[in-house]
Amino acid sequence: MSGYHHGMRTQVAIIGAGPSGLLLSHLLDAEGIEAVVVESRSEEYVTSRIRAGVLESAVVDLLRQVGLGERLSRQGLEHGGIYLQWPGERHHIDFVDLIGRGVWIYGQTELQKDLVATRRCAGQPIDYEVSDTAVHDIDTDHPSVTYIDRDGHLRRIDADVVVGCDGFYGPSREAIPGLRSWERTYPFAWLGVLANVAPSTDELIYAWHPDGFAMHSMRSLEVSRLYLQVDPDDDIANWSDDRIWECLARRLGHGEGDWRLTPGLITEKSILPMRSHVSSPLRHGRLFLAGDAGHIVPPTGAKGLNLAIADVALLAPAIAMLLCKGDGALASSYSDTALRRVWRCTHFSWWMTTMLHRYGDDFDAELQLSQLRWVTTSEAGARGLAENYAGLPLDLP
Ligand code: APR
Ligand code: PHB
Repeated sequence: MSGYHHGMRTQVAIIGAGPSGLLLSHLLDAEGIEAVVVESRSEEYVTSRIRAGVLESAVVDLLRQVGLGERLSRQGLEHGGIYLQWPGERHHIDFVDLIGRGVWIYGQTELQKDLVATRRCAGQPIDYEVSDTAVHDIDTDHPSVTYIDRDGHLRRIDADVVVGCDGFYGPSREAIPGLRSWERTYPFAWLGVLANVAPSTDELIYAWHPDGFAMHSMRSLEVSRLYLQVDPDDDIANWSDDRIWECLARRLGHGEGDWRLTPGLITEKSILPMRSHVSSPLRHGRLFLAGDAGHIVPPTGAKGLNLAIADVALLAPAIAMLLCKGDGALASSYSDTALRRVWRCTHFSWWMTTMLHRYGDDFDAELQLSQLRWVTTSEAGARGLAENYAGLPLDLP
């Protein structure tokens, strides 16, 4: 490592090239604001990691408005609702009928590729494979970020604003003095598989089962994404492809009515922990947090990516007002405004999670089934789910 700084000056230094960091850089570019993005992983890693796949309709509208809708409109799948089921019963919750809008199925991996390509087209590189990222002087109006680049050079970015888009394990959150966090870890995890097989369903299936939750999602008309509730300490080595398909078939109701689950070649499998986590405030001085850096939801409500996008949709105009007009009003209200949506989605994700996973005793199981019957038979119950799942407006009051 060389001992001196290679300095650089920009308006906004963004730590992390996930969806929050890259979309923020794109929204800032549209406001005429220059940003530099640093990322600890490689481009190959960030454009291939498998994540969620559901976009709220307001998020799709936003992506289209800012020129990111082209491939999404061609390759995304528009869905009108979801199925909720338990042994012997499957119910369609029709979001479009209930609240007039649906969701889009478009893998986060695909959105990530679109974002990387857009930044490259704009001639704005991403500094990949950096290490030792640190933020400095966030209490002043000349904060900075230092890091070691992939060639071992110590680098320094002087900026007007620093944004931590560095996910749950990034360093930015810890830089906020007096940060408060709320956390819930769930006593179960998801085993997720990606399979080269046409989905056996037209809509996503969320299934309650005495053996544990199962879910049938998809990435395209040729690729299915499926999940099983497993023990958080379980080892993926215990799960042969045959065992996975057998469990999915049982929990998803293969053979009930005329429904069949078609197995196929599994191309990826892993076990994902489940937690809820909220940090506050999402801003200190000239440092802002967005996306997973500030909050984590369990995947059951499909809110993680949507929340990350909602954060940066709020933050970009706040930074623009601060830097272009010297007006800090939106920057000051960013944390409180963003956290109102975060807590709504935290509640919804927790509610879906606790309604659908097997834990606790038989009393809990009966409460879950009663809740599922209510949601699937009462219009008020179904509408509540639809409104939250398909997404509240981006400018949630
Ligand atoms: N320096 C630079 N980059 C870092 C550092 C660091 N010290 N630490 C972490 N990063 C990078 C990570 O490698 C990652 O690429 O920050 C990025 C954060 O990206 P994401 O984890 O994708 O978070 P975010 O952009 O907020 O997107 C949220 O991701 O986890 C899903 O469900 C979640 O869909 C949601 C989305
Ligand atoms: C997914 O397709 O990966 C997916 C969909 C909906 C969820 C969670 C994950 O609630």
